[in-house]
Amino acid sequence: MDRSATSRQAQALGPLLAEAWSGQPIPVTEGYADLMPHEPPGVASRSMTQWVMEFPLLAPIYERIWRPAGVLAFMGLDLRHFREERAKTVRWLDLSPGDAVLDVACGPGNFTSAFADAVSTGGVAGPGVAVGVDVSVPMLRRAAATNERGNAVYARADATRLPFRDGAFDAVSCYAALYLIPEPFAVIDEMIRVLRPGGRLALMASRASRHAVVRGGQDRILGAMGLRMFGLDELTGHLADRGMAAIEREVHGVTQYVRATAPRH
Ligand SMILES: C[S@@+](CC[C@H](N)C(=O)[O-])C[C@H]1O[C@@H](n2cnc3c(N)ncnc32)[C@H](O)[C@@H]1O
Repeated sequence: MDRSATSRQAQALGPLLAEAWSGQPIPVTEGYADLMPHEPPGVASRSMTQWVMEFPLLAPIYERIWRPAGVLAFMGLDLRHFREERAKTVRWLDLSPGDAVLDVACGPGNFTSAFADAVSTGGVAGPGVAVGVDVSVPMLRRAAATNERGNAVYARADATRLPFRDGAFDAVSCYAALYLIPEPFAVIDEMIRVLRPGGRLALMASRASRHAVVRGGQDRILGAMGLRMFGLDELTGHLADRGMAAIEREVHGVTQYVRATAPRH
């Protein structure tokens, strides 16, 4: 374990972390920073699906098979949208070189690396950094191995209590995770907290059926697995309640994409 205060990860994370981390060594192991060093792996996984994400063999399968096949099916086989999902997210987040961007529940870093490319200034660390956080150690290992970039940093952290200072990031995203986290609105509130005034937010989550009978079935069957289907106005409504501006939503199959901007005060 690298506890050096000058590791690449520590240098990049230093200016972004909350006061509680001031002067603390940042443990780096297997290519990711451990920002929950006193909590054993698996402790933050409270739903069945979260727990599945901790399986060591899942990370490679997730990146190569599960996400491409599963998400394409959830998108209603919208191949065009599927192909441009990453590039479109970069546009939605309005990323430019020098930005600091946070990928919440980054999994194997499949979006974090695209964000890192978009914010790169050609330097090794410092301005222009993409931070991917996740609670799953196998996912973080996979991210550090397959989606490594000089300006990408992966860290173990719980999305419901992000270890970053208020307003640390220019942009924040959370894709394909809110529906498996038991406290999704706490995650969104944390994302808003770490976003600077005028910063951009992007979400990808599930969309419940408009038909009450189907929706009841979804709630019963998927709910038992720890999966949640969000009503069409649930995420946009929460963002509006929190004072977010320029809220937009796009629906593809049973997925919804939502973007918003933090007010400039
Ligand atoms: C389906 S993957 C999504 C990965 C990636 N964002 C994507 O769009 O493909 C969901 C991820 O959420 C992570 N996760 C679940 N609960 C979390 C929490 N409380 N904090 C951080 N990550 C969490 C899981 O470990 C898993 O890697």
